[in-house]
Amino acid sequence: MRLEPAGAGLIRLSCTLNGVPTTVLAPPFASLAETLRERLGATGTKVGCEAGDCGACTVILNERQVCACLIPTARAAEACIWTVEGDGPAGVTARLRTAFLEHGAAQCGICTPGMLMAASDLIAREADPNRAAVEAALGGVLCRCTGYLKIIEAVLEVAQGVAQGVMESSGGPRGRSARAGIGERSPRVDGWPKVAGSDLFAADAAPADSLWLRIVRAPHASARFYLGDLEAVRRATPGLAAILTHKDVPGENAFGIFAGLKDQPVLAPGSVRFRGEAVLALVGTRAAIEALSDAALPISWQPSPALQGIAAALAPGAPPLHANFADNVLARGHLACGDVEQALQGAAVSAEGTFATTFVEHAYIEPEAGYAIPLGAGPDAIEIAACTQAPYMDLEETARVLGIEPQRVRIRPTACGGGFGGKLDVSVQPLLAVAAWVTKRPVRIVYTRTESMASTTKRHPALIHAEAAADAEGRLTGFRMRADFDTGAYASWGPTVANRVPVHGMGPYRVANVEIATRAVFTNATPAGAFRGFGVPQAAIAHETLLDDLAEKASLDRWTIRYRNALQAGDRTASGQHLAHSVGLRQCLCALKPDWDAALARAAAQNAAQPRLRRGVGLAAMWYGCGNTSLPNPSSMRITLARDGRLTFCNGAVDIGQGSSTVLLQIAAASLGLPPAAFHMLVGDTALTPDAGKTSASRQTFVSGNAVRRAATALRGKILALANAGPDARLELVGSRLGIVDGEASRSIELSALPPLTAIAGGHGAAGAPTAAALEAEALGEVVLEGRGSWDPPTTPLDANGQGIPYATYGFAAQLAELEVDISLGTVKVLAMVAAHDVGRAINPTLVEGQIHGGIAQGLGLALMEEFAPGRSENLHDYLIPTVGDMPSVKIYLVEDEEPEGPFGAKGVGEPALIATAPAILGAIRHATGVRLARVPVLPHRLWQALNGEKRP
Ligand code: FES
Ligand code: FES
Repeated sequence: MRLEPAGAGLIRLSCTLNGVPTTVLAPPFASLAETLRERLGATGTKVGCEAGDCGACTVILNERQVCACLIPTARAAEACIWTVEGDGPAGVTARLRTAFLEHGAAQCGICTPGMLMAASDLIAREADPNRAAVEAALGGVLCRCTGYLKIIEAVLEVAQGVAQGVMESSGGPRGRSARAGIGERSPRVDGWPKVAGSDLFAADAAPADSLWLRIVRAPHASARFYLGDLEAVRRATPGLAAILTHKDVPGENAFGIFAGLKDQPVLAPGSVRFRGEAVLALVGTRAAIEALSDAALPISWQPSPALQGIAAALAPGAPPLHANFADNVLARGHLACGDVEQALQGAAVSAEGTFATTFVEHAYIEPEAGYAIPLGAGPDAIEIAACTQAPYMDLEETARVLGIEPQRVRIRPTACGGGFGGKLDVSVQPLLAVAAWVTKRPVRIVYTRTESMASTTKRHPALIHAEAAADAEGRLTGFRMRADFDTGAYASWGPTVANRVPVHGMGPYRVANVEIATRAVFTNATPAGAFRGFGVPQAAIAHETLLDDLAEKASLDRWTIRYRNALQAGDRTASGQHLAHSVGLRQCLCALKPDWDAALARAAAQNAAQPRLRRGVGLAAMWYGCGNTSLPNPSSMRITLARDGRLTFCNGAVDIGQGSSTVLLQIAAASLGLPPAAFHMLVGDTALTPDAGKTSASRQTFVSGNAVRRAATALRGKILALANAGPDARLELVGSRLGIVDGEASRSIELSALPPLTAIAGGHGAAGAPTAAALEAEALGEVVLEGRGSWDPPTTPLDANGQGIPYATYGFAAQLAELEVDISLGTVKVLAMVAAHDVGRAINPTLVEGQIHGGIAQGLGLALMEEFAPGRSENLHDYLIPTVGDMPSVKIYLVEDEEPEGPFGAKGVGEPALIATAPAILGAIRHATGVRLARVPVLPHRLWQALNGEKRP
């Protein structure tokens, strides 16, 4: 019998799982994904939507890939199931693992199991599939990080190898690559668990005795609400431990990014400002909280008119969302230099336009999740494991919400399945903390996809008016911009957007006369926050479109006008900053000039025949300051050596998929002079790693890279001093013996003979048990030598006119888009992108390329597809992000104009990767059709209407 009733609503089911006969008791209609994860411990199968949209749950069931979230468990009776934990049919999954690692095909890794299973299914069934077949096979699995291209490369390599009878496989975890010097294409140091399905993301583990948390959210964008007898509901609901309201928050019922702007309630105290705002928290058994519908709760709502959109919020008489912002303007940014009015009046050519962008969802494949554990009887302290980009910020928020000292909070980041800025703000953390504190039990939560999209931050919609002026040769003489950003119901990163855009708003060009004014405006929408670029991608659409306008009016080639105006070393920015070095924009433009000429020739040849498919080519340039805007932005790192020879890299920089753990280890190894394989890595744990700041603003390679270089250099200095060796000495670590080879001389230090350091202090320790010192001793051993390093980029405050040094360095890039427009349908197919990026120094070119691929994919979505509407597109079925079939080919030129301030010359690339993509695509559509578009996304109906001269919606 392969399927039989087992009582209590369960069935006993037999199947073959990863080649092993397996029996499980499970509810027959529970999804196969649920049964695999919760009853069989196969958490390598991920869940991103539970609706068949994301493919993260893809497994092979009876020789076909399926979405395990859509398959009732009963259907798996007698089935043969392969998940990522197995080696796959004919061992093909094992081979794919190796290829994924080598190609850098896994970034955050949350989609990787689904990708591996979809690819395994293809290769097991089809001999020597071509690229189209690979794209078709992977078409149901979404990836938000990689842009798919390295995944395709990896799958094709394995497919071709299988076709040729090559039988290589990894056979198991791989040690750290020997190819790990600066500039080497070293595989990710954290890559193996991602391809093996053993990486633990936030939903993958929690204490067995955890209660579950479910948040009840507002169905209205603006409303007051009144609560009835909640205690009666709790008493009447078996398994329900508590219904929490704002009154249960022990400390401050508020969180937010900036001191003085903690404006978002943990639980709304009687009124809500956006649809999806947290109102109540149900804590209990999973069955209890899932069975209790919102409708069964005694909440009465009194909706009020919502302020939707910037115009409504700024209209005279609009009611203020927050009492201390009477005009609904959260923050203003300003930059002024020269005399813009005179420049505009005296211009040989000028251009002007109004541009609009919309809410964009981060759409990381991992919905927010985590758990909290109260420590001590009081409780005395708390530990939170969750996906995050900013563990130390989470720590401070949690401590304030609980009303306890920061030393009593420990944040342990889980693997993070994508962030892109969306996991900089706290989400699950404050409510987990409150629920665990109140119930004195471990508590866990996993957001649904809808909940994640409805309640977490978005990219700011922008309404931008800009004017640009140039002389007869196309040299920019003046630029003016007024930009308003819809920051939604709460402040989040609104001030950052308002302050960053003025610095960047004129683009990476020399302009003597500039005036830029920005506002972040409160509305009754989902809060807008940080999303890869902090407003700069929206501004880039405006300045690049105006540059194309000026080129047309001055009868200049679009490449030429950019080259002519490009910032160079020695120039001053509109902020008055002297750029002394590492301004590689002209090199970027020169790198892609042959591609530009060739693409224009292709377009001319195709369009001469007046086809239905019109080909177009667009070009855009960008710049982006690495790190915070004129604010302190330090990072600290620590490397320790213990008596037993344990070398530990205490790295507080969370790797959200971009590869910082690998890059920073490469820097640490090169600076210390020991191989990467010698290091143990501790990442992000606030009890064990110093504060490296948040993973955002393209800062970790640049800022934390400098900190780790200093830490490693300090440790090396101590070792060399102990050995009385010269600066070029070579180090060897064998067990507890540290060898120092200095020319002909060779010395050794027996680490076990050194006295332990007396003052051991890393990050914050959690009281309640174990102590910080005990945690450190366990994790690091008995430390006898250590190196610490901190670095804060040299910036200065901006004055009232935005003058000063906002950033220590900037990334520069130029991107080219080549596409076809079907003028009868209004559809756009991007065929190719060419991306030239000045990254200072590519510490790991594979990872840099991965960032550029992923940035281009998100830029493509911004340009053509993505539009978040609260209440309407809170799922991955209605909210479309690029799939593997939407990706163009991408050719990359890495320009290395070394930044002397950067570690080994490196700068950041995370956000620069995206910024030029959308304007390049808009320029290409215009080239193909003659239609100048000023609103994104360019959905087919909008382009069709523009092409046909009809009123746009
Ligand atoms: S979780 Fe199954 S398709 Fe998304
Ligand atoms: S690596 Fe694909 S979603 Fe992150």
